[in-house]
Amino acid sequence: MKEERLERSQLPIDPILNARYSPRAFSDRDITDEEVTLLMEAARWAPSSHNEQPWRFLVTRRGQKGHAALLSALIPSNQLWAAKAPLLVLNMVMRDFAYNGKPNYHAWHDMGGALAQLTAQATSMGIGLHQLAGFHAELARIAFEIPEHMELVSMLAVGFPGDPDTLEGHLREREQVHTTRKELNELVSFGAFKS
Ligand SMILES: Cc1cc2nc3c(=O)[nH]c(=O)nc-3n(C[C@H](O)[C@H](O)[C@H](O)COP(=O)(O)O)c2cc1C
Repeated sequence: MKEERLERSQLPIDPILNARYSPRAFSDRDITDEEVTLLMEAARWAPSSHNEQPWRFLVTRRGQKGHAALLSALIPSNQLWAAKAPLLVLNMVMRDFAYNGKPNYHAWHDMGGALAQLTAQATSMGIGLHQLAGFHAELARIAFEIPEHMELVSMLAVGFPGDPDTLEGHLREREQVHTTRKELNELVSFGAFKS
């Protein structure tokens, strides 16, 4: 990740967490099969309700099987830059628990945890990752014949970060500024709830 992004938090949180950002510019460097396996392995070891591991990942490589279909499921503003990422990934969860058939209301929560681990692993390897809600789930469902018992949660654009100058105008500007965060005291209360 780029050096100037390393100090996002002023507090000494883990450097991996401080280095992470959501890139839109990707380099031409490909991601090896071994690197893909490590990313998925990191997600695999996330905790989940009842150890259900409801997450499922459909990985496509740029120019290879399934990639064009997944790319065209993205909304146009995401397609614009995500097309260059070497990997597009579709993130899905199983709606119901396998052990009793009841709805797993924490499946999306567990996917978030798995993606956090995947993201930390990617950052530690210098790989950038951009999560995407801007996609047409039903297009992807039809293209890949995904059954109704799976929910399509989000997508990922994954690749080594590239030169922001390869992006068009407003995208280039967005790539060069840091995102900000709410103050900690707005997010956390101690002992009593503070709205
Ligand atoms: C679930 C989720 C969905 C997102 N969807 C999109 C998206 O469709 N398009 C996009 O450009 N960014 C998307 N983002 C990226 C966020 O805009 C980004 O994480 C946020 O602005 C903070 O920036 P940072 O990740 O660089 O710190 C998404 C992020 C998450 C976690």
